[in-house]
Amino acid sequence: MEYNITVIPGDGIGPEIVREAKKVLDKVGEVYGHTFHYTEVLMGGCSIDAYGVPLTEEALETARKSDSVLLGAVGGNVGNSRWYDVAPNLRPEAGLLAIRKGLGLFANIRPAYLYHELAGACPLKKEIIGDGFDMVIMRELTGGLYFGERYTKEIDGVMTAVDTLTYNENEIRRIAIKAFEIAMKRKKSVISVDKANVLDSSRLWRKVVEEVAKDYPEVKLTHMLVDNCAMQLVMNPGQFDVVLTENMFGDILSDEASMITGSIGMLSSASMNEGKFGLYEPSHGSAPDIAGKNIANPIATILSAAMMLRYSFDLDKEADAVEAAVQKVLSDGIRTVDIMSEGCTKVGTAEMGDAICARI
Ligand code: IPM
Ligand code: MG
Repeated sequence: MEYNITVIPGDGIGPEIVREAKKVLDKVGEVYGHTFHYTEVLMGGCSIDAYGVPLTEEALETARKSDSVLLGAVGGNVGNSRWYDVAPNLRPEAGLLAIRKGLGLFANIRPAYLYHELAGACPLKKEIIGDGFDMVIMRELTGGLYFGERYTKEIDGVMTAVDTLTYNENEIRRIAIKAFEIAMKRKKSVISVDKANVLDSSRLWRKVVEEVAKDYPEVKLTHMLVDNCAMQLVMNPGQFDVVLTENMFGDILSDEASMITGSIGMLSSASMNEGKFGLYEPSHGSAPDIAGKNIANPIATILSAAMMLRYSFDLDKEADAVEAAVQKVLSDGIRTVDIMSEGCTKVGTAEMGDAICARI
């Protein structure tokens, strides 16, 4: 088969890690008889430098017309005045929000999995880690506080800032359905996270999630308050399978979940629309301080490409092959510096890509 992929290398380490993910996709193409066509577009700081905006209409249109999008990372040091001494809607991260909204990518899937080989990097105590954990955070991505009305103005002589948290039942229903669908392919458990003891949006969330749950009688649904969830993640991470939550809570909890894997350089993510279209990117940022040094870990981006094969192209066998190659690289003791430990072989970004390709 042939597939058209929009590639957004972005800023910082983005270009280096995306290069390795393309290398792996090309190897998959060679072995399994597919062709991947890439069209590169700019987003983030590099787009600001070239066009004065973090995402052009043309770049968005190119992405919309393709089969899926592969993204590195966007953003730089906040000290970079060219990118940050401007209105918030012109900063690099605004490009990310614009592409999520523009392509209707409401379902953000963030797996957090403890690799047995990397358990030493997990900051939790051994008795808490137990047999490890394997969860997926399903974060709503185009609603809530991120996209509600906001303004700062003087009201009765007092500077006042307003951010609005809005969800309608349709927005809740479609993300809940995605979460239950994924749970059906996993351990059939959904923990829905909200703040229903305070927020109206959470009370509606709970009601709609319960309605959706009726269509999935095999899936066990539990509700958890977000503050308790933050605590449970570091007390008993093994209890989570699919975590379903709104945009802002998902932003925070997914960072917490990635931290306890001990290796943010390993975590992939997918952002999907109603159908099979998705944007795939590592969960980590652009790490400008290590850009261009060939030391960044490309595995999160490579695993994101594997998610693309699985979720957008239905190439399960190929996705399995990439995930198995990553697992093999780890058991063979090959490590980038961020996951390095004694007795292992330290390699750079490009060498890690090569090592994974060699195992496909
Ligand atoms: C993420 C990031 C973004 C978010 C930022 C960069 C706008 O933290 O993808 O989690 O808050 O969604
Ligand atoms: Mg975040």
